Amino acid sequence: MSERYAVVGNPVSHSQSPQIHAAFAQQTAQDIVYERLLAPLDGFRETVTQFFAAGGCGLNVTVPFKREAWELTGMRVGNAGDAEAVNTIKTEGGKLVGYNTDGVGLVTDLERNLRCAISGKRVLLLGAGGATYGVMRPLLEQRPASLVVANRTPEKADRLVRHFLQYRGLAASGVSAASYPDLAGKQFDLVINATSAGLSGEMPPLPAALFGADALAYDMVYGRDTPFLAFARQHGARAVDGLGMLVEQAAESFLIWRGVRPQTAPVIAMLRSR
Ligand code: ATR
Repeated sequence: MSERYAVVGNPVSHSQSPQIHAAFAQQTAQDIVYERLLAPLDGFRETVTQFFAAGGCGLNVTVPFKREAWELTGMRVGNAGDAEAVNTIKTEGGKLVGYNTDGVGLVTDLERNLRCAISGKRVLLLGAGGATYGVMRPLLEQRPASLVVANRTPEKADRLVRHFLQYRGLAASGVSAASYPDLAGKQFDLVINATSAGLSGEMPPLPAALFGADALAYDMVYGRDTPFLAFARQHGARAVDGLGMLVEQAAESFLIWRGVRPQTAPVIAMLRSR
């Protein structure tokens, strides 16, 4: 019988994960089914428990449950511990193990698909919510020249930087927090929008001279041309949405569950052609 996987969220009907994992399964000849699982906002734990009790093998976790998934999993692997967010759950010996593949997905999309080496770059991360927590360590592991985290509520950016540098022992120089007005007069080679502003057709207030020569602007939101991407193009940057990150984080989850990493390029191309 096919082994069962699902993405759990609320809402979840928009999720492209079932198509992505179906394509991976076909490509690697793995016998799985992958569904969408809508959990009530106050019923994440019950939904997950029932899924695994009924023989489910693995879950992806999406908005708004990544933090609850981190709390629920007894054991966390990789950067899921310090991200305090889990997007992939697997059972091992009856225990729920949590992973976070978002950061590796982002780094793989940037480095491999977009040929944008992070090492030595001046990187700006916009936002200080869960999406930023998930990608901090994998980004820093690539040794950018500097990493600035800017947020509308600057205290949250301060707290995030302290969390990683003081409490999680990440020894990194050039990491700092900023407000948006602090960005005046600064330039970056890579600007990553990890805010949810694009989902409501908004963007953070950014200075026009933000992008250095050959800068890449990356929006984690996918499937729409956000105001941030339009602004970046208008000011000379190469602008890319987060579809590649979506597929790469899915490929990492698939690897964790099935022990084989599928090819992502054909799946990204398939989704882009829709
Ligand atoms: P996620 O888990 O997706 O990161 P979140 O924790 O709710 O979601 O965080 C959303 C992020 O987007 C925050 O950094 C938020 O800024 P605040 O901390 O100041 O709320 C940011 N954000 C949302 N809408 C925004 C907007 N219109 N302009 C600028 N930043 C915005």
